[in-house]
Amino acid sequence: MSLLKVNNLVTYFHIGNQMIKAVDGISFNVEKNETLAIVGESGSGKSVTALSIMGLINPPGKIMEGEIEFNKVNLLKLNEKQMCMVRGNRISMIYQEPMMSLNPAIAVGEQIREALIIHKAVPKSQAKKRSIELMNFVSIPESQVRYNDLPAKFSGGMRQRIMIAIAIACTPDLLIADEPTTALDVTIQSEIMELLRSMKNKLNMSMLLITHDLGLVAENADRVIVMYCGKILEEANVKDLFRRPMHPYTIGLMKCIPKIDCTVDKLYSIPGCIPHPSQFPVGCRFNDRCEVVKDICREKMPELIELEDGHKVRCWQWQ
Ligand SMILES: Nc1ncnc2c1ncn2[C@@H]1O[C@H](COP(=O)(O)OP(=O)(O)OP(=O)(O)O)[C@@H](O)[C@H]1O
Ligand code: SF4
Ligand SMILES: [Mg+2]
Repeated sequence: MSLLKVNNLVTYFHIGNQMIKAVDGISFNVEKNETLAIVGESGSGKSVTALSIMGLINPPGKIMEGEIEFNKVNLLKLNEKQMCMVRGNRISMIYQEPMMSLNPAIAVGEQIREALIIHKAVPKSQAKKRSIELMNFVSIPESQVRYNDLPAKFSGGMRQRIMIAIAIACTPDLLIADEPTTALDVTIQSEIMELLRSMKNKLNMSMLLITHDLGLVAENADRVIVMYCGKILEEANVKDLFRRPMHPYTIGLMKCIPKIDCTVDKLYSIPGCIPHPSQFPVGCRFNDRCEVVKDICREKMPELIELEDGHKVRCWQWQ
């Protein structure tokens, strides 16, 4: 059964007389206990999708259309007070840069404690003990002592562990992780991903993992959607996507994954760059970068169609 159903979500930003089509009619589900990855280059609409789910789109941004059904409730119909009960409680989010989300002036333990008091109604007398347990749970050494330290006293990886402790304090049903390891070095990245995987399994959560790194997708996700210019171009389970990528954009992203035997100067990159969201090309939005573009691609946008069980593609080559 689906925990989250996003149906035809359209989120635009109105800037002057420009319309930024950040998310432009996307639909997908997240099932209970699964990890769904959203992958795509910078500017493809991944974070705006996450912020739309969290109810955190503010002017000049606006959700123009669609439904976001979570546990059978349409979140877009909730008022701010009701949405606050969902955010940080049933759905939690962790961000790329933990320093941006932690309060630099408050001890980390206190920040976890606050999350427990607000969202879990844990009595104040027990909240400190529970916070220290959570710090242990995310493997922060000497957590009793470090409870009183400010965020600046922690390394990037340790700060991300604290963010994870805050995010799971309320045992959410869905954890949204938006580029959770991009700011970290490679060894710490894999430790944080391992921690997220184990938390997800221990707490029976679903996860929406947002990343531009297909390597992370392969290791951590069950299913994946590939986004470009606010649209879904391909959707599949991870095995099928890696076994048989169908969309030229996905094939390009796969070619960008460094191979062990490749030197840096042999690395492939998709030609051109993602168009400005107020000036998408007519037809397929990937047409000015595609190596197999046809006339029709410059005239009409293809539909996202299901070719195999659960494997969907938006490309004229397959229609
Ligand atoms: N507050 C905003 N005001 C105006 N435009 C915005 C705003 N937030 C996002 N956008 C635009 O919406 C588009 C999608 O942005 P989004 O942040 O979702 O991309 P992303 O896929 O998360 O990229 P990245 O990998 O860099 O995080 C971009 O063109 C971006 O410039
Ligand atoms: S629709 Fe055309 S331009 Fe777009 S990806 Fe497919 S072949 Fe390339
Ligand atoms: Mg982003």
